[in-house]
Amino acid sequence: MTNRAWWKEAVVYQIYPRSFYDSNGDGIGDLRGILQKLDYLKELGIDVVWLCPVYKSPNDDNGYDISNYQDIMDEFGTLADWEELLHEMHKRQLKLVMDLVVNHTSDEHPWFQESRKSKDNPYRDFYIWRPAKDGREPNNWRSFFGGSVWSYDEQTDEYYLHLFSRKQPDLNWENPRVREEIYTMMDWWLGKGIDGFRMDVINMISKTPGLPDAPVVTRSPYQFGGQYFVNGPRLMEFLLEMKEKVLSRYDILTVGETPLVTTQDAIQIANEETGALKMMFQFEHMDLSAEMGAEISTSESSRLLDFKTVMSRWQKDLDGRAWNSIYLGNHDQPRSVSQFGDDGPYRVESAKLLATFTHMLQGTPYVYQGDEIGMTNVAFESIDDYRDLATRSMYREAVEEKGVDPARALEVVHARSRDNARTPMQWDSGEQAGFTTGTPWIKVNPNYKEINVAHALADPNSVFYYYQKLIKLRKENPVVVYGSYEVLLASDEEIYAFIRTVDEDRVLVILNFSKNSPVFHLPENIAFTNAEILITNYEVNSHEELHEFTLRPYEARLYRLR
Ligand code: GLC
Ligand code: CA
Repeated sequence: MTNRAWWKEAVVYQIYPRSFYDSNGDGIGDLRGILQKLDYLKELGIDVVWLCPVYKSPNDDNGYDISNYQDIMDEFGTLADWEELLHEMHKRQLKLVMDLVVNHTSDEHPWFQESRKSKDNPYRDFYIWRPAKDGREPNNWRSFFGGSVWSYDEQTDEYYLHLFSRKQPDLNWENPRVREEIYTMMDWWLGKGIDGFRMDVINMISKTPGLPDAPVVTRSPYQFGGQYFVNGPRLMEFLLEMKEKVLSRYDILTVGETPLVTTQDAIQIANEETGALKMMFQFEHMDLSAEMGAEISTSESSRLLDFKTVMSRWQKDLDGRAWNSIYLGNHDQPRSVSQFGDDGPYRVESAKLLATFTHMLQGTPYVYQGDEIGMTNVAFESIDDYRDLATRSMYREAVEEKGVDPARALEVVHARSRDNARTPMQWDSGEQAGFTTGTPWIKVNPNYKEINVAHALADPNSVFYYYQKLIKLRKENPVVVYGSYEVLLASDEEIYAFIRTVDEDRVLVILNFSKNSPVFHLPENIAFTNAEILITNYEVNSHEELHEFTLRPYEARLYRLR
């Protein structure tokens, strides 16, 4: 068994503050809104809140474009509100993890304002500036939000690099002064007593010198240049420096958001002794579902097999070497129940099944706000109802440049838009789902009359109480946190079953990821004298034969074997 640590045993709850709870009727969630809901979070049983960015920002990308790292966005409140929030959280034994966005700043950050003034400005080298090449952008990289990663700035007749929007210029991590400034800022927050950082696209901070052109694989003028900026040449060096100068001095949770990492990368970056971060968000399993959303013709069955292969690899490869973070959704993804479960007739069952899955793997589970009541995707009728800049620019590019039929483009938006996860938290069945007394910044999901916290709290069989029970189970059974993982029935196309073991302690997890009723056959090598059911999302007769039985749609069962 690996070493015990609080951040391994914790369950993290992610708050997207803009959509959580509005305390003053301006339609925007805020810090005082979160304060009012701390007892709700406590009742759920979570230990840690990861708070998406609340810093000063012009909100081109909802706070992921920061203009002042050491102050709070006006719409969210003040630094005093934030101090009070931290204090009230700690009083309730809740920990606070802040979002750290240091791959880029806002173009309205004073560093960038200085940087763009002249080529010899002391801040020039805080960002990545290049002259035109053959009368156009310095290279062919495509931005994550569409178009080139380069924007031309007249003032100095050069381009600056932005992997995301033009209002998110990338910091130049090659410059030691940039790194020093960031470490000082991190220290300032840690000095205030926060409990960790979630680090935004942290594996993109090191770019390959020379910024070479990406291979041309599509007809578009811009190509994905990931091989030159994802897990770049100096990434590990930068992270180890950050660890040495800042992180190692605090007992904190650190989780890197790291798209396109392999288990080998994770073992290096999050190695218990020699790594820099405590854990990472990998995206392999989410990228499979992105393909599903794009309706690449994979049958449902092969999807589960791919999913099992990916998850099993992460479970096995990291065991004893690095620590997993387990999630099926966040503010950048569709709702997990819509993506991996069923948001129709089996919404409640499948939401519980997915929760069983995320809480029963080796790693730290992350719950995205609203998942604990089974919130679903939304399907707004018009692109004008969408707020996310990525969604809007993808739609525009599809319709205007690629000639995609608008109705078809909207379907893709319905399946994939980040706004699926950003509609307001559904608190009750009153106006605007009880989120605000004003007009919300983005429309509420019309299903709030049925799906909301008030209903969940009044129903002992709700998704909410199921989460509560899972979180408790995890706390009471170290095998759930630390146990080794063994997949069973690896080639079953509907059932995902696995066993977790520490010494004599064993739990068996049986999950029917389908709408069908497959028969479960316990492999013969699994011997036991007593099987006690710990949690299930259907009524189960405790004397039922475990060796062979029929599962109901999205049925989940957890047994302790002795
Ligand atoms: C991360 C964030 C996402 C943001 C992007 C740029 O992926 O999670 O919301 O748009 O980085 O900061
Ligand atoms: Ca507000």
